[in-house]
Amino acid sequence: MDSWSTDLIIGTTLFVSFIIFLFYLHLYQTKTISSVSRAVLITGCDTGFGHQLAIRLDTEGYKVFAGCLDVNSEGARKLQSYSQTLTILQLDVTKSDQIEAAKVIVVNNLMGNVLWAVVNNAGLASHAQFEWLPKTTFERMIQVNLMGVVNVTREFLHLIRANKGRIINIASMAGRTAIPGFTAYSASKFAVIGFSDSLRREMKHFDVKVITIEPSLYKTGLSAHFILQNDVFWSIAEPAVRRDYGGKFFSDTQLSRNRLLNRARKNIDEVIDCCVHSVTAAYPSKRYVRPRHLQIFNDFFNEMFLDFQDLILYYITGIYTKPDMMCHENQDIEHHMLGRRRSYAT
Ligand SMILES: *[C@@H]1O[C@H](CO)[C@@H](O)[C@H](O)[C@H]1NC(C)=O
Repeated sequence: MDSWSTDLIIGTTLFVSFIIFLFYLHLYQTKTISSVSRAVLITGCDTGFGHQLAIRLDTEGYKVFAGCLDVNSEGARKLQSYSQTLTILQLDVTKSDQIEAAKVIVVNNLMGNVLWAVVNNAGLASHAQFEWLPKTTFERMIQVNLMGVVNVTREFLHLIRANKGRIINIASMAGRTAIPGFTAYSASKFAVIGFSDSLRREMKHFDVKVITIEPSLYKTGLSAHFILQNDVFWSIAEPAVRRDYGGKFFSDTQLSRNRLLNRARKNIDEVIDCCVHSVTAAYPSKRYVRPRHLQIFNDFFNEMFLDFQDLILYYITGIYTKPDMMCHENQDIEHHMLGRRRSYAT
């Protein structure tokens, strides 16, 4: 045999092997479990991801328990009219009595199903500089985004464990990359990812999967909600804070926020598809980042030196105005000699 035909045989074999590999990879990724006798609890179904996911899983044949912050909300009523089999629950994840009551309802209405998955979706976001983000807003975000997830998980985990089921936590890309203007949000989402990664390693002993969904910004109730807040928070900030930052700086934070919102992705199915996959796939991923192309950028970004990360985020957020108190530095010789910057706050 001449070398030409040897090359041809080797090449063809490699190519065919690769096609077979892709075929099996596809089978592996698309293999689903049966929805028969399986129930799912989702929190935060009034709007957004939770609402859409409840509809999709109901359509797939799962028994869905849809936790809503307000069972009389438009979203909750829509869900109820959409399906007879779906059960709406009153569930404010920061209220222990409501979590306990929800469990009683779930257990009593399983009707032969087993609780297969809990999707911790309920969450809040706010955009403002830390110094004018109200303390109560900060606290509320930790309560909902972190303690809500922890408390709901604690209540339902033994049922999930009994069925070798899944805990799915909706985190965020902001849970691995901290963007200015999102101190509370990032703190809560970093914490949720830490909680999930740790719990996943504990739950491996029980064949329970703990999965995080990490979307970038999408146009949902959550992004719509934080649109107005920066102005309100600024208007009620302490006078000293307002003077030190100055109106021009504040305007820049508004522009920065607008640019962010303009980049918010419209196709929320990108995220819902991941959520559905995480519940229904025989071999789900441990982590879903959407849009997918940002995962590569984001993971690479997170490996860079912090100086570099800071610089890139400085350009991305585009706030180049000096805060007011930084504009008078040269005139403040006296303060400099005292080793102090001019601040109305001191
Ligand atoms: C979480 O659960 C603990 C203990 O049951 C309770 O004290 C706390 O208030 C709960 N926190 C939230 C935010 O639900």
